[in-house]
Amino acid sequence: MVTYKLDDIKKKDLQDRKPIRVIVGGKPIMLVMIDDRPYAISAVCSHRGGPLEKGMIESMAVKCPWHGALFDLKTGKALPTTPWGKEQGTYRVTIDNNTGDVLIDV
Ligand code: FES
Repeated sequence: MVTYKLDDIKKKDLQDRKPIRVIVGGKPIMLVMIDDRPYAISAVCSHRGGPLEKGMIESMAVKCPWHGALFDLKTGKALPTTPWGKEQGTYRVTIDNNTGDVLIDV
């Protein structure tokens, strides 16, 4: 596992419940802040490849914009109500509150 510091994104660039896609270590990752805590999950839906960064945040889950699978942002697991989704990869993401740097372990 390698820790990457995002070059173009700082904490101030992340709006609450507004996901974005970043490429980290060659992997597309959806990054989102919820109540001042960051979460990172694979951006490519495990069902048929939908772009999760274009999905809605519902409580602590992201809803795929293509067929509605809901994924828990902490575990990456599909919620029982949408079993067609398979578990997504999740990544540890931290923020340096002094510099605003965003760090992701991939
Ligand atoms: S591609 Fe995401 S639910 Fe189908």
